[in-house]
Amino acid sequence: MAEVKATNVHWHEGDISRNDRWKALNACGATLWFTGLSGSGKSTIASALEQALVNQGINCYRLDGDNVRHGLNKNLGFSADDRAENIRRIGEVAKLFNDAGVLALTSFISPYRADRDQCRELHDSAGMTFIEVFVDTPLEVCEQRDPKGLYKKARAGEIKGFTGIDDPYEAPNKPELVLKTAEHSVDDCVKQCIELLAEAGVLKKA
Ligand code: ADX
Repeated sequence: MAEVKATNVHWHEGDISRNDRWKALNACGATLWFTGLSGSGKSTIASALEQALVNQGINCYRLDGDNVRHGLNKNLGFSADDRAENIRRIGEVAKLFNDAGVLALTSFISPYRADRDQCRELHDSAGMTFIEVFVDTPLEVCEQRDPKGLYKKARAGEIKGFTGIDDPYEAPNKPELVLKTAEHSVDDCVKQCIELLAEAGVLKKA
């Protein structure tokens, strides 16, 4: 839990409600939260999904672990505390995107169940939709893909605390969707996500 240091701050309600904003913009905010090992295919699927949805006129935006760590979260490393803070911030950012009517597609390893559950709770308590997608790719497959050469480095002891090698990954207990990328194509995974989003009623064209 992040320490609260901000005192004497007061919430300022805007002049337009979330409902009125979404109605006027024909938008619907929600978060599709991808979790899985490095190299599992989170970013690849999120990116293809983003392209497919934007081409359909859906206002969605991808928040990607490696990318966000270039800016907003560049001061965070990979200790359990830093990963928790990484995920907490992204949960908050996704919630803001939702409020603005944007469908947020987040792709973070997010290895700890408690951190992901906190993001779900944050969305639930604000009446927002949180959909957890477990990109369930076996470690051996991720390691074989090794798109960034990081597993090789971790095995050689050049990276310490690498998820799946010498750092834990806690799979979700009840994700809304499980994607088996070793068995299904990217297109097929994208299709499964779109079907789920349609079922959840969040695909509103701007
Ligand atoms: S998370 O655990 O805090 O959710 P995040 O998704 O933001 O991780 O970043 C993961 C990416 O950081 C990996 O895909 C990889 O490129 C890079 N990385 C660097 N060091 C590590 C590490 N120790 N464990 C996992 N990923 C790492």
